[in-house]
Amino acid sequence: MIRLSKLYIRNCGVFSNHLIDFTQDGIPQDLICLSGVNGSGKTTILELIFNLASFLTPRFFNKNRLFFDRLKPHILTRTEFAQLDLIINENKLLSLVFGEEEEIQYDKKYEESQCFVIVSEEIKSIIQNIEDTIVKSPEEEEEYRLDERTKRQFIRFLTDLTDKEFDTFQKERNIRNQEILNDFFKAIEEHIEKEINYADTDHLQLPYFFLFNSHDREILDIRYTSLPKNKSTYNIVYSYNPKRDDLEKLLVFYNYAYPERYESLVKWINKHILSDQKIEKINKPDFQVVMKTKQGKEHGIELLSSGEESLLILAIQIYLKASQNSIILIDEIDQSLHPEFQEKAIKMLRELQREKGCQIVVTSHSDIIWNAFEEKSIIRLTEVLE
Ligand SMILES: Nc1ncnc2c1ncn2[C@@H]1O[C@H](COP(=O)(O)OP(=O)(O)O)[C@@H](O)[C@H]1O
Ligand SMILES: [Mg+2]
Repeated sequence: MIRLSKLYIRNCGVFSNHLIDFTQDGIPQDLICLSGVNGSGKTTILELIFNLASFLTPRFFNKNRLFFDRLKPHILTRTEFAQLDLIINENKLLSLVFGEEEEIQYDKKYEESQCFVIVSEEIKSIIQNIEDTIVKSPEEEEEYRLDERTKRQFIRFLTDLTDKEFDTFQKERNIRNQEILNDFFKAIEEHIEKEINYADTDHLQLPYFFLFNSHDREILDIRYTSLPKNKSTYNIVYSYNPKRDDLEKLLVFYNYAYPERYESLVKWINKHILSDQKIEKINKPDFQVVMKTKQGKEHGIELLSSGEESLLILAIQIYLKASQNSIILIDEIDQSLHPEFQEKAIKMLRELQREKGCQIVVTSHSDIIWNAFEEKSIIRLTEVLE
């Protein structure tokens, strides 16, 4: 089981020297709300958690596993020091550290069982290099848009990285006291290159961080593309991407490949999410997911309102992917949700949390959302920043 304990931040965004405590007197919380006005650092915190977690992936220095935002420089290049403490199986602490070793924070409660993954600040210049080399474009496949020469340079750069800098980096990803968490790391290493069969749920026992950012939640039309093949290598951190994770495609895929899991998913959704309508069927051969309204009318899933769409995306992704070793980060949960839907969203997340045993962190500036949380599960950034 994985739970967030603490996040130490020095000089990143609005934070100068701050500690975010996700526990209540040391006890981890299953469902947490980060509250605060615009610009209080909510997104910054989620991005830091997400990027520190990516240190857990053994070969994380792979362009697919470093996450770049088209619009702003990578968060680690804008951070002086950060440390994320994770509670593993209730009695061990795993600290993911970025920055100088002298600044490491020790947790007395876990004296004998605190373990460290340390990544030095040098990684900043490498990340910057990659950012400078890749021409940022709105499309996923940015390297295909590069001209031949830049492309070759880019590939050489990546290859160099794999040979030389990657080795140094691996050495620097200094896993201290690995024996404390040996099984944990071994499980990760073993699964990383392994083909994962999505029908068996074993892989769900591995750690998994999922980030839903605030802008990219939409269903895309797949009718004119081919059936997807689910990507099989295991990623510890995963950012929701409407192109890659197109909801309709995902439903069609599960219906085709894993009908039993599809059935249980649809049953769950129809019961817990959509009160006035349900997922009725998948039309063939045009692969359209058909919804049926209370009045008995049918329409395509893409005609849902953006609020319903957003809820459905969250629910389906979490339902299929979360386990007690998952941490789900959702930025601006209230986004495009009517007050009534906001309450419903939290109710749904509570259900999912209970069912899957995962930890869920949402951010919000809506007091309807805040009120749906217990006092002990709210972190008020305005107070943290005082
Ligand atoms: N280097 C910096 N120094 C101080 N404040 C910064 C710096 N970089 C970004 N910020 C501030 O951080 C805020 C954005 O943080 P963010 O986490 O996106 O806020 P939220 O998600 O809570 O709205 C902005 O108000 C911006 O001015
Ligand atoms: Mg934000």
